Amino acid sequence: MTKYIVQGGHPLFGEVEISGAKNAAVAILPAALLVDGVCRIENIPQISDVTLSLKILEHLGAGIRVINRHTVEIDSSHIRSTRTSYELARKMRASYYLIGALLGRFGQAEVAMPGGCNFGVRPIDQHVKGFTALGAKVMVEGGFINASTENGRLKGANIYLDVVSVGATMNIMMAAVRAEGNTIIENAAKEPHIVDLANFLNSMGANIRGAGTDTIKIQGVDRLRGGSYAIIPDQIEAGTYMAAVAATGGQILVKNIIPKHMDCITAKLVEMGVEVEEREDTLLVRRSGPLQKANVKTMPYPGFPTDMQPQITTVLCLAEGTSLVTESVWNNRYRYVDELKRMGANIQVDDKTAVVEGVDHLTGAPIQACDLRAGAALVIAALAAQGESEISCVQYIERGYEDIVTKLQGLGATIRAVEVPGESEELEAHIG
Ligand code: EPU
Repeated sequence: MTKYIVQGGHPLFGEVEISGAKNAAVAILPAALLVDGVCRIENIPQISDVTLSLKILEHLGAGIRVINRHTVEIDSSHIRSTRTSYELARKMRASYYLIGALLGRFGQAEVAMPGGCNFGVRPIDQHVKGFTALGAKVMVEGGFINASTENGRLKGANIYLDVVSVGATMNIMMAAVRAEGNTIIENAAKEPHIVDLANFLNSMGANIRGAGTDTIKIQGVDRLRGGSYAIIPDQIEAGTYMAAVAATGGQILVKNIIPKHMDCITAKLVEMGVEVEEREDTLLVRRSGPLQKANVKTMPYPGFPTDMQPQITTVLCLAEGTSLVTESVWNNRYRYVDELKRMGANIQVDDKTAVVEGVDHLTGAPIQACDLRAGAALVIAALAAQGESEISCVQYIERGYEDIVTKLQGLGATIRAVEVPGESEELEAHIG
């Protein structure tokens, strides 16, 4: 088992290069199953969720050629099976994208039920509603979700989502792309990775319009051809480094980002007294004065992202005054708060609201990550805290942050990964 040892209390200075977006990559990799030919995908983040996605594709019979650390070629011309490995697929929440991709290409899919839940109920009823509207029969049998069509091809339909769901929007888009006729998804999610998936599919010959708005129109095509595509930069990874320098003080240049995607995070940090200077594809982020309190409410894009909630709450622990954080996407995303309290944070959680009373400083402690973004929040807390922290269960963090230790060391942080023998690395399946 790996742990991170952090000597905190020092400002960050330097430059950090942002990797490709995790939540785009975990959808675009399965979407390669829709293509009869070779897709070259660039700017793939080197994270464990990507490694797992590639293993699942390989197991289905896709040819995987690793070109370099961030580029692979996927050849889905000779898929052997539409049944995914139970053991592999159940480890990752995003394996639900295999249903849309396999169903869209072959008219059938058998995918392990995504694992239990660690920050609230995570139903997939909206995905199922979409597949059913497109003409699929969906059942749960022996731990698998079985989806099938009578004649091997889905039929376009109008689908109104009852809740704004990133996963359902992308999954239905994948299923509909090769369906017969037109599909309209209304009340669709608008996150940058939704636009990225649509751009990927369109570059392979799909006909998708309106991605990034709440109405997505898809005209089914007979086949998708191979091509080359680069994944967008990771908005949440960039936001996490911005939050880190907000907490520690200092000045960093965040490189390889799309500034527009960062607006919802930048606006909140500026309100808290952080200076952010936007350039073409970089942000210069500086915090020299005291942090101000702020109220934060998570919302679907372009609102403040839930995947930044733990990190911003951590920064608010060090702000002057009382801040209110409201989590309106997930119903149990405050499990990390008890760990922050070990470090001296003053936070009271009541259902979806956290009342954060700013403290003068945090102190280092042994702490444990309980999921990906919670883990990122603890790293931020440890960097800002006085003294040494030991963070365990960092395998959650490595699911979504490429080279986090090296990147932070590049910003002058005193952080190192150490191997501790004898403890299990098994993740709670699914998160993220
Ligand atoms: N929901 C339903 N029914 C559904 C689907 C969702 O009721 O069929 C509800 C959920 O319970 C939740 C809300 O709708 O309350 C939003 O869920 P959404 O479907 O948008 O989430 P997701 O697709 O499962 C993705 C990201 C999450 C991120 C959310 C929200 C991936 C692999 N995961 O999850 O990312 O929090 O969107 O933006 O893209 C992370 O990266 O740390 C992470 C958790």
